[in-house]
Formats: sequence, structure tokens, C-alpha cells
Amino acid sequence: MTLVHFLGTPWARWEEMVSWAELIAIGAIGRTSYDTDIIKQGAVPFSEWSSRALDAAADDERSILAEISVAERNGSISRTEAIQLTMEVFSAGVLTTAGLISNCILALTQRNDLADQLRSDFALIPGFIEEVLRLESPVQGVFRLAMRDCEVGGFPISEGSRVFVLFGAANRDSHAWTGADDFDMRRPGSPAHLAFGRGVHTCPGSSLSRTETRIALETILAHTTSMDLAVGVHEVEYLPNPIFRIPLQLPLEVLRPRHSIRVREPFASFPQGKNAGQ
Ligand code: HEM
Repeated sequence: MTLVHFLGTPWARWEEMVSWAELIAIGAIGRTSYDTDIIKQGAVPFSEWSSRALDAAADDERSILAEISVAERNGSISRTEAIQLTMEVFSAGVLTTAGLISNCILALTQRNDLADQLRSDFALIPGFIEEVLRLESPVQGVFRLAMRDCEVGGFPISEGSRVFVLFGAANRDSHAWTGADDFDMRRPGSPAHLAFGRGVHTCPGSSLSRTETRIALETILAHTTSMDLAVGVHEVEYLPNPIFRIPLQLPLEVLRPRHSIRVREPFASFPQGKNAGQ
């Protein structure tokens, strides 16, 4: 929802926008073959909506949408590029940040001792988030096209090859990290992980998502005394593609000061079509 605010889009549609972004992610990313039916279910309404929102964006508005709209009107980008950019910024930011918050909560349900430490000292939360980013990166990797013959770690890669760069594996590299699989929120040099990529395409939303996640955790921890998963950890369902590590829903049993509630909220809508669950 924070991104809806920065993008400058009407709040009323944010849940629909999330479900469109999910459909595109499920249908397009990381599959060996595209499922165009699922992609269309998300992409058609999302691009129609983006086009209308770009038309409605005022020049003097301080929003990402207005910036994109100005770039289109002064000829720097085409209408198609403006629509794609609007959809990309929203999709890249919303699913990933929701995934990071979910992965943090999931980690806390598995380690009540950590939750207690964070409750007693909120200054530990940023280090905790970095360690979740390292070990449970919401974006596990990206595809790259090799522009020339090269060699990585002694492995030859020929020009034109499509390569899946697995950030999630690098983040557990025992040559780079002492006790690579151990969760250590006081780990020195933790932000050197690759959860946000590296180089010219490094994620521009890293600060925003870190801040959103910190505020979400502070709020949740301040209003709970314990959080447990209401299902087995292996029953947690993830967005079905290999790029993302994003739970679809986290059924929780939450104890709040003085009274107990049971929360079971879906992360967002999910298609029940032939590819659901693949
Ligand atoms: C926990 C949250 C997030 C994670 C884990 C994440 C991760 C990533 C990763 C791994 C990349 C690819 C980097 C590369 O190609 O080397 C990326 C790119 C990108 N991210 Fe994020 N991201 C997050 C949040 C956000 C947010 C909040 C926004 C928008 C405000 C955003 C917008 C983008 C955009 C536009 C790109 C493409 C950059 C480019 O190609 O130059 N991301 N992100």
C-alpha cells in the first residue's frame, strides 16, 4: 500500500492491482513455457488501468506515475514503455516487499527466542531483516543474457546463453559467509548480501522496502506477545515460480497482550486454474 501512495494511484484499486501483478508473475516468470491465459488475466486489466492512470496524472503531482507521464509527454519514452514501466515498478515493489515481511514473520514463528529479543530491543530489527534477506531472499535470482563468451567459477558460458543468476545461492556461499546457513542477526557486514542484486540494475526500491518492513515488524511485535504458525512449516504454500520465495498465505496464531486472537488472512488472491499450485 505504501507503493500505491508513492506511485500516486487511487487506493481503491490496490487489491486488484496486487492480484494482477501476481497473475503476471505466475504466468510469465520462471516458467519453461508461458501460460498466456494467466498472463492475460493480469496484464490486460493492469495495462488498461495503467493507461487511464497515466492520462489522469497531473504534471505538478509529486508521484512516480506523474514522472512517467511527463517522460512520455516529452517524448523520452513511448506509451507502451510508460505502461510497462508503471506495471513493472508496482509489480517489482509490492510482491517482493510483501514477501520480505512474510518471510520475516515466518522466521519469527520458527524462532520465538528471536522474536523476544526483537521485542526487547527494536534496534536489532534492521540486522534481523538483513539476515532474512540473505537466507530467504524474496527474489532468488534473475535471468541474464551472456553478451560474450566468458567463464564464471571455471564454468564456460558462451555468448547468447541464457543464464539464471542465483542470488539466493550466493547468499549462502560458505566462501563468503562464516556459518553461511546460520541465522545471525548481529553478523558483521550483513548488507553485502545480493538480495537486491548488484551493479547497474541494483534494486532502486531497497531502502523503501527495508523501511516498510522495519515499520511493519515494529508494529506487529509491539502488538503481540507471541506468534506461531497455525500449520506445519512445510505446509506453507509459495508463489509457484522459481524466481520468487514469497509465501501465498501465513495462517498465524497470535497472542496479544491480555487476549488471544486467531488470524487467518490470505496474502492475496490466487488463481484456481489448471496451473495453480505448479
Ligand atoms: C524486499 C523487497 C525487494 C526485493 C527483494 C527486490 C529485489 C530486486 C532484485 C533482485 C532486482 C534485480 C537486480 C538486478 O537485476 O541485478 C530488483 C530490481 C528492481 N526493483 Fe526491486 N526488490 C524489492 C523491492 C522493490 C521496490 C519496493 C521497488 C519499487 C519501489 C522495486 C523496484 C525495482 C525495479 C524497478 C527494478 C529494476 C531495476 C533495473 O532493472 O534497473 N523493488 N529488485
